[in-house]
Amino acid sequence: MRMKLLVGAAVLAVALGSAITQVAADTPRQEAMKEMGKNMKTIKEIVSAGGPAADVAGPAQKIAEIAAKIPGLFPQGSDMPDDEAKTDIWQNWDDFTTKAKALQDEAAMLASAAGGGDIATVGAQFEKVGGSCGSCHKAYREQKN
Ligand code: HEC
Repeated sequence: MRMKLLVGAAVLAVALGSAITQVAADTPRQEAMKEMGKNMKTIKEIVSAGGPAADVAGPAQKIAEIAAKIPGLFPQGSDMPDDEAKTDIWQNWDDFTTKAKALQDEAAMLASAAGGGDIATVGAQFEKVGGSCGSCHKAYREQKN
C-alpha cells in the first residue's frame, strides 16, 4: 500500500514537472499558434492526398476558433524580450486585429468549402488561409533563428 502511494506520488511529480516545463517553454499565444500550425499540416496532408474534402472541415473550424482568440492573446504590454512578437503589433493594433479577423473569415470559408466536397475548391481556399498566416507574420512576427 505504502509502496503504491510512493509510486503514485513520483508519477504525479513527473507529470507536474513536465507541465511546468511546458508552460515555461511556450506562452499561451505560442501554443495557440502551434496548434494552428498542426491543423494546417493536417489540412495540407488531406489536400495533397486528394481528399476527402469533408475531413478538412474540422481542422479548418479549429483554426477559425483560434483565430478569433488572437487579439486576446496579445494584450497591451505583453511583449517579451525573447519572443517573436514585434512591438508594431501594439502600434498598429487595428491592422493587427484586422489580419486576425481575415484569418478567421478565410478559415471559416475553408470549413464551408470542405462541406461542399470539392477538393480543388478546398485546395484553393487553403492557399488563402496560408496567405492570411503569412501576411500577419510578415508584418508582425520577427522570426528568430
Ligand atoms: C494576426 C496575426 C497572426 C496571424 C493571422 C497568424 N499568426 Fe502566427 N504568429 C503571429 C505572431 C505575432 C507570432 C509570434 C508570437 C510570439 O513569439 O509571441 C506568431 C508565431 C507563430 C508560430 C511560432 C510559435 C512559437 O512557438 O514560437 C507559428 C507556428 C505560427 N505563428 C503559425 C501560424 C499559422 C499556421 C497561422 C495561420 C493559420 C498563423 N500563425 C496566423 C501572428 C499571427
